[in-house]
Amino acid sequence: MDKPGTVVVVGGTCELGKHLAQHYVDKGHPVVVTSRDLGRAQATAAELGGNCTGLALDLAHPHGIASALEGLEDVQHLALVALHRDDNKVREYKIDEALKLVTLKLVGYTECIHVLSAKMREDASILIFGGLAAQQPYPGSTTITTVNGGVSTLINSLALELSPVRVNAIHPGQVGDTPAWLSKPKEVIDNLISRTALGRLVTIEDVTHAAVFLLENRGVTGVNLRVDGGRMMK
Ligand SMILES: NC(=O)c1ccc[n+]([C@@H]2O[C@H](COP(=O)([O-])OP(=O)(O)OC[C@H]3O[C@@H](n4cnc5c(N)ncnc54)[C@H](OP(=O)(O)O)[C@@H]3O)[C@@H](O)[C@H]2O)c1
Repeated sequence: MDKPGTVVVVGGTCELGKHLAQHYVDKGHPVVVTSRDLGRAQATAAELGGNCTGLALDLAHPHGIASALEGLEDVQHLALVALHRDDNKVREYKIDEALKLVTLKLVGYTECIHVLSAKMREDASILIFGGLAAQQPYPGSTTITTVNGGVSTLINSLALELSPVRVNAIHPGQVGDTPAWLSKPKEVIDNLISRTALGRLVTIEDVTHAAVFLLENRGVTGVNLRVDGGRMMK
């Protein structure tokens, strides 16, 4: 059997990134987690244990990504999880906030893939995190709605160009046990729950399970997978 290849989690300091990284640490892979801050990346790597290391990169400054990733080799899975939260209503439009998110998700993610594509195993896989704001906009979601739409089409050209490397996207609904939602008032959460078919918000565990499926299933490429507890049905 091949030795486990390197798993890179860009945005490995957030709960979704950490949980995915932990899954692969526990399976014996070398894992690299990134943050904008080297100390935070290293602290997360130490917390995850095993053969996990941290490195710093800023997706909103994509010219620096190549040098940040240059030491990596033998990449088996790449997960792009990082996010800049841009709450941006068009009547009060904040250009710099929008630029950060658009650059991070559409250019920064793509630059990571560009740099690591030369270091990937032939059967490697890439997973891009999007979300549901493309189909379910809300006031202030202008940039995230646009960017999630971009993620859902970006995978098509990447899956074609990088084949046999597989490229998929995951689109979680509100993940109830992430900090973003744990801090919301009960009325907000109850309202969201009432709009799911399952009668609950999805969990980090649900998203990790689906992420691992997309990273590992050898027949799946160019797929956008919603993990939302049936949120689109209501
Ligand atoms: N949470 C949800 O309910 C939910 C729902 C739908 C989709 N998602 C998707 O799931 C992913 C994770 O969401 P989350 O809520 O867990 O995120 P989060 O808690 O806001 O964490 C954001 C992550 O992105 C990193 N980051 C921020 N700016 C960066 C930059 N300029 N360059 C590089 N890294 C940067 C942060 O690392 P440092 O701060 O350490 O740099 C952190 O690891 C996102 O892609 C999001 O679109 C989440």
